[in-house]
Amino acid sequence: MRVQVAIVGAGPSGLLLGQLLHRAGIDAIVIEQRSPEYVLGRIRAGVLEQVAVDLLDEAGVGKRMHAEGLVHSGIELSFGGVRYRIDMQKLTGGKQVMVYGQTELTKDLMDARAAAGLEVVYEARNVSVDDFDSDHPRVRYMKNGAAHYVGCDFIAGCDGFHGVCRASAPQDVLRTYERIYPFGWLGLLSDTPPVGEELIYTNHPRGFALCSMRSRTRSRHYLQCSLADSVEQWSDELFWDELRRRVDPEAVESLVTGPSIEKSIAPLRSFVAEPMRFGRLFLAGDAAHIVPPTGAKGLNLAASDVRYLSRALVEFYAGSSHGIDTYSELCLRRIWKAERFSWWMTMLLHRFPTTGGFDQKVQEAELDYLVHSVAALTSLAENYVGLPFSD
Ligand code: FAD
Ligand code: PHB
Repeated sequence: MRVQVAIVGAGPSGLLLGQLLHRAGIDAIVIEQRSPEYVLGRIRAGVLEQVAVDLLDEAGVGKRMHAEGLVHSGIELSFGGVRYRIDMQKLTGGKQVMVYGQTELTKDLMDARAAAGLEVVYEARNVSVDDFDSDHPRVRYMKNGAAHYVGCDFIAGCDGFHGVCRASAPQDVLRTYERIYPFGWLGLLSDTPPVGEELIYTNHPRGFALCSMRSRTRSRHYLQCSLADSVEQWSDELFWDELRRRVDPEAVESLVTGPSIEKSIAPLRSFVAEPMRFGRLFLAGDAAHIVPPTGAKGLNLAASDVRYLSRALVEFYAGSSHGIDTYSELCLRRIWKAERFSWWMTMLLHRFPTTGGFDQKVQEAELDYLVHSVAALTSLAENYVGLPFSD
């Protein structure tokens, strides 16, 4: 089999890239190691920047998002038992974010691909990427016991943090930067109404808490937890009790609890791989970088890489290699700013087991400064809603 672009991974990056290329008349295959049910079962991100919303519209998959997604013009910050509203719309000259779950977005992309008659190879085993230092790269995989070869012009490595693409890059060229945080997030999804109209980020002596949502009837809550914790240790009852201890009194009043639909623990990590292009192999999304979820940037960065990559490939087939030559540099400029913001939000809102008195006092001073300084609030707001592209 031969295609123009072989996409490895059917997460949001791979599916969105496939959709944008299809609309541009570029022929691509998507190869995924898991089943569609497994991909849809991963409860992850919930907040989309305007640039991600625009890109989904451009890909022709924005209809349900606009009908069912919730547009938010602010977030709330809670510390010392008091809640402060940050009016992002006012601070950024009109920008907002969209609350729409990654699961829904992935489903929309899967449906669009199926409606266009385009296939995703699910449950592909032993995927490998070869010869991307030549003009004739290849992707190999096993399916139902048979070996398959896909010849292509380009490989898009959209296979997430544990994928095969970054691992196949020449290790003498690849540079990685990493920070691991000494805690995780325990997430709980429930069919209960959200605590408030907007997301509430809480800094509490017992640890960070986030009250988020997926719809007016479905909530997503997170608690900072120990990396040694297991999901089994956290009954629903323990989770709700701990959340009540951390959030402000008004939030306790309006908190509606109920049985969990899903519960999982995610470690927090900052990670960047440079460069993001190796000959005819490109990395995009989590395959190239990870942010701690505090700034809600993971999925948005994936969308921004895909935007650059789809434009670069369209440009290539129109006769210019400028886009593919500048892909890595342009992506990384935006990525490092999101890395900085996500790291900063994480440092601001969590309790660090090693934090001594001085660091704790500085964190408290920073929170106090933030909510009383329009300059500081504007900086938070413009990063949260998403920085502009540099092209
Ligand atoms: P992924 O979603 O990881 O998709 C990669 C795909 O590639 C997967 O389907 C995988 O099965 C497939 N794959 C892997 N290896 C291979 C292979 N060898 N061959 C073929 N296919 C392969 N972001 C936020 O903004 N907010 C959040 O709350 C949030 N929570 C998160 C919680 C967790 C546990 C994780 C892991 C991430 C979270 N993120 C969050 C980040 C966000 O979900 C990711 O940034 C986003 O999923 C990136 O999309 P992606 O398509 O690049 O990677
Ligand atoms: C979520 O709803 O899953 C979510 C929202 C905001 C974040 C992280 C996660 O910063």
